[in-house]
Amino acid sequence: MIEEEEEFEGLVSSIPASSSSFSSSSSSSSSLPTRRHRKKRNVSWQERYRFQIGLAALLVTATMVVFAYLETVFTGDEAPSLWNYSTYNTNNTQLNTSHPYNGGMMIDYDCPVRVAADKNDFDGGKEYLEEGAQPFFNNKTYFLDHFRNHSFDGWGRTYDEFKASMREFKTKYFVPNLQNGDSIYESACGIGLNLYLTLEILQEEGGISDVTVYGNEYLQESVDKANMFLETLLDAQETNGHPKNKKGRLCHGDSTNLSHVPANSFDLVFTGYISPLWDPLEFGGTEDNYYGKMTKICRDPQKNENLWEYQKLAEIMQEEQEDWYSIWTTEMIRIAKPGKAIIIEEISLPYCDNMEDWGGVRRDFWKEGTERYGWDIDPESLMVIEGTQKMRYNVLMKKTI
Ligand SMILES: C[S@@+](CC[C@H](N)C(=O)[O-])C[C@H]1O[C@@H](n2cnc3c(N)ncnc32)[C@H](O)[C@@H]1O
Repeated sequence: MIEEEEEFEGLVSSIPASSSSFSSSSSSSSSLPTRRHRKKRNVSWQERYRFQIGLAALLVTATMVVFAYLETVFTGDEAPSLWNYSTYNTNNTQLNTSHPYNGGMMIDYDCPVRVAADKNDFDGGKEYLEEGAQPFFNNKTYFLDHFRNHSFDGWGRTYDEFKASMREFKTKYFVPNLQNGDSIYESACGIGLNLYLTLEILQEEGGISDVTVYGNEYLQESVDKANMFLETLLDAQETNGHPKNKKGRLCHGDSTNLSHVPANSFDLVFTGYISPLWDPLEFGGTEDNYYGKMTKICRDPQKNENLWEYQKLAEIMQEEQEDWYSIWTTEMIRIAKPGKAIIIEEISLPYCDNMEDWGGVRRDFWKEGTERYGWDIDPESLMVIEGTQKMRYNVLMKKTI
């Protein structure tokens, strides 16, 4: 307790002049009724500093509010709260043992015996094979020495360049959604190198290992390479003494029919690219022929006499494309475990919106699609993130629990 003089107002006239602290300096004023008189009393330190304490509490609260706001700005937290973010950290090479171990159980199923021609196959997939992983096939040493400086699967850039461009995205959205011992499925995995760079980033940025990868690919030649390359790479991958990543089943299969894959199986399902319908209106003929017709439908219909017909055709063309995207997506959702992430990378815009790309869907399609196609996802989890290629974007969603 601290002794303090308390002020109070009163009629000093009622107090004998000799007891007034002011009596010596001004006896005449001692009779004024407004005169302050002081008396000593004991007060706690809290009471004494109550103003300063209040001010300090106010300052602490204001600082916390400002920091919370800055955090959302700098982490780019435009996403629904269902998504965690991990921080982008290129220096993290240590394996993270704090991730709980998630069993590492293999998911077993048989690959299809026959794969029917898919609706988006127009030239036997030559455009992907041309870029060529052929010199690497059956030559493990050459492959391990050179794959990082080579371009594959229509990427248009080397493995290392592609990996660098995907690092931030995968760190932010794959790492927080996976644990040691988890399983990943890639729909249309090509020769398997998107799966491998994903594993490398999980380890480098999140310290996650012992992940098993699965997938399917329409081209038999590519899936054969995927199986061989992944085996070679995973065998050689250094995991600093932690259990190695593993290869599960990678099948020859069509992404719009994954009936051979059990439902509710994987901790994360992604596709590097949904290959669109090349010729949604089935004009047929050569690529030039049907892309020429599609271009005519899209471009400046006012210059054509049959305006409404062109518009209607463009509408039907887009609906066909959307239905195709939906079938591909529905299969991805089906095989993901409840509550787990489904990620679609590098989505093209509709052909009429970007005639330099192959054709795809609008960003709004995904929200509408959830209702239109009855996707088993949490609509709150839906998120659109810009892609690494010009005018492309990524979509993230979570399966309902
Ligand atoms: C652009 S590549 C991407 C490969 C791999 N996902 C990546 O990101 O590196 C597209 C792949 O999809 C495959 N593909 C196209 N249509 C398919 C379908 N209906 N089912 C399965 N794979 C398909 C192609 O053969 C090709 O390997």
